[in-house]
Amino acid sequence: MNETIVKQRSLLGLKDMPQEEITELLERAAYWEAQPDKLTPVLQGKFVANMFFENSTRTRFSFEVAQKRLGAEVLNFSAAVSSVQKGESIYDTVRTLESMGIDAGIIRLKPIGVLAELATRVKVPLINAGDGNNEHPTQALLDLYTIRKEFGELKGLTVSIIGDVLHSRVARSNLWAMRKLGMNVRFCAPPGMAASELDVQYVTIEEALKSDVVMMLRVQLERHENGVFQTAGEYREQYGLTVERAASIADHAIIMHPAPINRDVEIDDVLVEHPKSRIFQQMQNGVAVRMAVIERALA
Ligand code: CP
Repeated sequence: MNETIVKQRSLLGLKDMPQEEITELLERAAYWEAQPDKLTPVLQGKFVANMFFENSTRTRFSFEVAQKRLGAEVLNFSAAVSSVQKGESIYDTVRTLESMGIDAGIIRLKPIGVLAELATRVKVPLINAGDGNNEHPTQALLDLYTIRKEFGELKGLTVSIIGDVLHSRVARSNLWAMRKLGMNVRFCAPPGMAASELDVQYVTIEEALKSDVVMMLRVQLERHENGVFQTAGEYREQYGLTVERAASIADHAIIMHPAPINRDVEIDDVLVEHPKSRIFQQMQNGVAVRMAVIERALA
């Protein structure tokens, strides 16, 4: 595959993806969701490696389901049981799999910038499954898909993204994509969890709840060097989506969360499967969205 095609078929982020391409992926996801058969082996004979250098449940498994539904051969790499533990670099790991003949790689990484660099050095399409707090494009695509299914249109909707914005690649990918699609995005975050480099309006939690979409974020405790909050209870009290707060959300509005969830921290336990919640629908929609992304990389 030549360099230009590899670049076109890779999905490193949504920041630089034209609005038309985002819309095409959402439409193709709708096509895949509508298919009556679970298996459509259009990628028979293609080998895809899922290379996760950071933990995952939803992203890894929904990519695997998507790949299998399209008939691809799936290789699962987990850093925890690989030669990374002997000191092998990310680059050498990816080159190793490339040299064995994979046709595309799904990759999740902790450090920012490594994926962009890798993409210039390997000759197969790479799909970003989350890199540091930079981007998580397939999560944002499935979020957009979920919102579009709900409201029919994306343009003109107001979305509030609430919580640990500083550490959130989901917030960044959504912000960049949603703006291209004509949506109004606001953030709500404690001072120690705000992302000062992003030019976005911050609102209070009360104001944030006056939105079409209330998107809660996980408090990423593993990425906090010093606790911003003394206790989970303190966070819940000031920024959590509590039952009392949820009562003020408009009838037509929906609640989203990329998960995993800290129940009773950023969202009350009983709200996770509340009629307004679309959290498990988001996960379900992730399969069709990832089918569209993998197809774009390989078909
Ligand atoms: N939403 C998401 O990326 O979940 P995982 O970390 O489980 O993949």
